[in-house]
Amino acid sequence: MKKIQMVDLRSQYDKIKNEIDNAIHAVIESSAFINGPEVKNFQQDLEKYLGVKHVIPCANGTDALQVSMMALGLKPGDEVIAPSFTFVATAEVIALLGLTPVLVDVDADTFNIDPKAIERAITPKTKAIVPVHLFGQCADIDAIMEIASKHKLYVIEDVAQAIGADYTMKDGSKKKAGTIGHVGCTSFFPSKNLGCYGDGGAIFTNDDKLAEEIRIVVNHGMKVRYYHDSIGVNSRLDSMQAAILRVKLKHLDEYAAARNKAATYYDNAFKSNPKLKVPVRFNKSNHVFHQYTLVTNGIDRNKLPEYLQEKGIPAMIYYPVPMHLQKAYQDPRYKEKDFPVSESLAKSVISLPMHTELDEEQLKHITSSVLEFIEKN
Ligand SMILES: Cc1ncc(COP(=O)(O)O)c(C=O)c1O
Repeated sequence: MKKIQMVDLRSQYDKIKNEIDNAIHAVIESSAFINGPEVKNFQQDLEKYLGVKHVIPCANGTDALQVSMMALGLKPGDEVIAPSFTFVATAEVIALLGLTPVLVDVDADTFNIDPKAIERAITPKTKAIVPVHLFGQCADIDAIMEIASKHKLYVIEDVAQAIGADYTMKDGSKKKAGTIGHVGCTSFFPSKNLGCYGDGGAIFTNDDKLAEEIRIVVNHGMKVRYYHDSIGVNSRLDSMQAAILRVKLKHLDEYAAARNKAATYYDNAFKSNPKLKVPVRFNKSNHVFHQYTLVTNGIDRNKLPEYLQEKGIPAMIYYPVPMHLQKAYQDPRYKEKDFPVSESLAKSVISLPMHTELDEEQLKHITSSVLEFIEKN
């Protein structure tokens, strides 16, 4: 059996080796390493794929979030609402900019920010909401947009884990995750559904003025060369990564289908086991399975990764500690039991290998090993 990995980038590369090698070689031949034509080409390809007016590439997903908040003119003291159960980047940039992170609980089925919890957390200082489309499935963005419009708030979608997912709007039309809020932010970290071979990120918006502001912020606060009207940052996607992403973007939908095939295999093996809850599909979004995350109950979850490891199966806990209980984000406003869903998920979730190259032999070994652990414990 082929070695099982959380993410098998090597086998994925083998299938597109010629395309990737040619793309990289062309960039080297051109020597246009920074802001070369491939960056613009990728930007246009992604705009077309997402159906969004502006894509602004940047250096990584964390920068995408930070730049968006800077471009929206958020100021110290402004409150920004974010989920407690997420990857740290979301809360980190809020704190880093001197804004006030206001954490809220998530939905037990979808793991995504709970719109009712958002509404309860709004104060006169609230300026923005950052829904994270966690593990590959959209948060209830229509409901969030309604709340935002009622309270005149910005919505910054964190789509790092769900690029390519479709959300079904109230009127039945479908929109790509990250193109519904005022601004969408993504990461091209190698293990992401659309990952490059290094760091990368992008910001999406349909707002012309905001797009211009974002382009200024990512480029040292500069519109005219060497004239700096505001304090910006240096955040660029390099040409080599853009060329790689152009190739991989063409395969993104087929990659999502491969992930869904693996997820269905897992579902069928686990769905009747009372100690495992398979990922609940949200009826307003499809799932692109960045992660396949089970919720366990009545077993010692912490012993499962070790058991699987002995059988050559990696597994990860995304995420073991919710944001409000993290040392760096301790705040007198929060204490244990404040966000019961986030806390309970942190204690009970486990993510199994999920990528585009899982074969039946591997999936069989993974599922039978998980079930074996449950039987023995
Ligand atoms: C939800 C979420 N937001 C933001 C990021 C940050 O992306 P990057 O690692 O490219 O800075 C990640 C990446 O892991 C993520 O999962």
